[in-house]
Amino acid sequence: MKKSSILAVAALAGAAAVMLAGCAGGNGDTGDGGDGGDGGDAADRACVILPDAASSPRWENFDRKYLQEGLEGAGFDVDIQNAQGDVNKYSTIADQQLTQGCGVMLLVDYQGAAEAVATKAKAEGIPVIAYDRPFTGADYYVSFDNTEVGRLEGQTVLDGLEAAGKDPATAVVVYMGGDPTDGNAAMFHDGAVEVMEAAGITPAAEPPGIWDQAKSQTNFEQALTGLGGKVDGVWAANDTNAAGVIKVLQDNNLTGVAVSGQDANVAGLQNILLGWQTATVYKPVKDEATAAVDTAVALLKGEDVDAQAELEDGTPYIQVTPILVGPEQVKDVVAAGDADYDDVCTPDVMAACEQYGVTAE
Ligand code: GAL
Repeated sequence: MKKSSILAVAALAGAAAVMLAGCAGGNGDTGDGGDGGDGGDAADRACVILPDAASSPRWENFDRKYLQEGLEGAGFDVDIQNAQGDVNKYSTIADQQLTQGCGVMLLVDYQGAAEAVATKAKAEGIPVIAYDRPFTGADYYVSFDNTEVGRLEGQTVLDGLEAAGKDPATAVVVYMGGDPTDGNAAMFHDGAVEVMEAAGITPAAEPPGIWDQAKSQTNFEQALTGLGGKVDGVWAANDTNAAGVIKVLQDNNLTGVAVSGQDANVAGLQNILLGWQTATVYKPVKDEATAAVDTAVALLKGEDVDAQAELEDGTPYIQVTPILVGPEQVKDVVAAGDADYDDVCTPDVMAACEQYGVTAE
């Protein structure tokens, strides 16, 4: 289990530079962008582990692509693998990568598995970046401002309630949080609760946190039954969870319910265009991957990197800014190349795409 202390975040005064002297485990030449990866030197290998495919399409669709491009561009040989939601597989992948040699490791935690890998890597002098999700023992945590992600989700619920003419103080709002073994889940929760509580919202029901559409659907169905079929809003921590919730709303003909989300995935964008989801928090993965690549390069060169905040255990936290996306902004996600027009604007969504100006180019 993760220690809860890692979840607390302290803003640094200004953007304090963090000294990285002594962290470099590579040979210092990696990251100059020159050699394009000749496959020779273990110290030039960037080893990456993604968590799964089920919690969000982002890992395989975007993180893999942008990390591959960015790390290759910085001169690394790149080894990206996916643990597919299996902690044993996670550690097997890590052992194989370490046997082949890594100049740097970028780990997306899965149920606490990254911490032991970081310990092994550090014992070999290999710098470690906690990519997107926090864990103890990394040199850096590179992610979005995840408390702000939560605040934007809370704001989404308020916006949806207001659009439906409902008073937040009396509204029935269900909280559908993320998997508590993901250190980000508490940050999303804290940010969302901060905004919703200030508006007088308390949870009418709060099933256990999970990142899973089918389980989210089952959990929400039970919660709704317990509430006698009445709901005004749902804080859903990501689009995958929201999709499970929305299936239940559709089955019960419940329209006009405020629903939040995160990741701007295709299903989420479609649900927004069709009015089933109020908004999503768009996190341009390319920016996050670029920040992680820059950090990896700096680590290997022993250079300073600016971090906006730090985790309670002292890990410097580099934060990329998330963006709220409602129906009017869906076109921006498509224009940025983070969702394909053909995937979003399917026949049943086409009229909404036209209404909100989502176009092929
Ligand atoms: C979080 C991540 C989100 C979302 C979720 C489910 O850690 O920051 O973007 O994808 O995991 O995988």
